[in-house]
Amino acid sequence: MKVVGTREELKAARDAAAGTVAVVMTMGALHEGHAALLRTARAEADTVLLTIFVNPLQFGPNEDFDRYPRTLDTDLALAREIGVDVAFTPSGEVMYPQGAPAVRVDPGPAGEQLEGASRPGFFHGVLTVVNKLFQLTRPDVAYFGEKDYQQLGMIRAMARDFDLPIDVRGVPTVREADGLALSSRNRYLAPAERESALTLSRALLAAKTEGERGGDAVAAGLAEFTKSPEVKLDYFVLTDPMLGPPPAHGPARLLTAAWVGATRLIDNVAVELP
Ligand code: PAJ
Repeated sequence: MKVVGTREELKAARDAAAGTVAVVMTMGALHEGHAALLRTARAEADTVLLTIFVNPLQFGPNEDFDRYPRTLDTDLALAREIGVDVAFTPSGEVMYPQGAPAVRVDPGPAGEQLEGASRPGFFHGVLTVVNKLFQLTRPDVAYFGEKDYQQLGMIRAMARDFDLPIDVRGVPTVREADGLALSSRNRYLAPAERESALTLSRALLAAKTEGERGGDAVAAGLAEFTKSPEVKLDYFVLTDPMLGPPPAHGPARLLTAAWVGATRLIDNVAVELP
């Protein structure tokens, strides 16, 4: 595995890449969720490129940019074990040589709902860095997790609207045995909070079960949050698969975000309405 930190080194590695090139973009602190993306890429493409960059542009002023976990050595060991070909680990200066960019990707109205409503500027920051990393890595295919369902949709929309010749593929959410979706932020949770964090997946499962037997999915989900008042709900919604208004029947999505202590967690599941 080649580990590269500059644009020049990345260009040389990219120019030398053979066959189909896949990219997996991350902010590091890699876990089995990231590993699932990398293993899927490894199975489906000839060359696998991993990017690790904690993107300051997508963090709000009161968010966790400074304390976001940085575990580069173990990240690279995992990437090596999976068979990644190139790891790009740029510094802030390499990514943003002029400082914060003047021109940013506008996510449009869809980027102002849900995560965008609670985290102003979040999708501008995500799409700007994803677009830059697309230009730098020039992949044929890119893998993103369904864990960040709205992000996956926004990246697909950007690829479509900007005519990017990239196949954006979603990978199902990897969970702990008890249902908690894996997240780099789970390591912030104290043991009691780790227990409370199960409220999100429990509520989604209750809502899915109720929705699939024709009941009120959202009410069933909210009932789980009522049982755990220490968890502060941000949103719990039922939408269509494209995050539009919920359909009467057929495929839909349940999405939630909540605060467990100082940690904000998100999760979502597919649901099939009868
Ligand atoms: P990060 O949170 O590190 O996630 C990197 C990728 O891993 C994303 O596509 C995310 O959806 C996926 N992922 C995280 N947890 C997962 C899980 N439990 N199961 C499956 N996939 C999971 O998302 C970002 O970084 C950033 O916003 C980024 C796209 C890199 C832009 O900075």
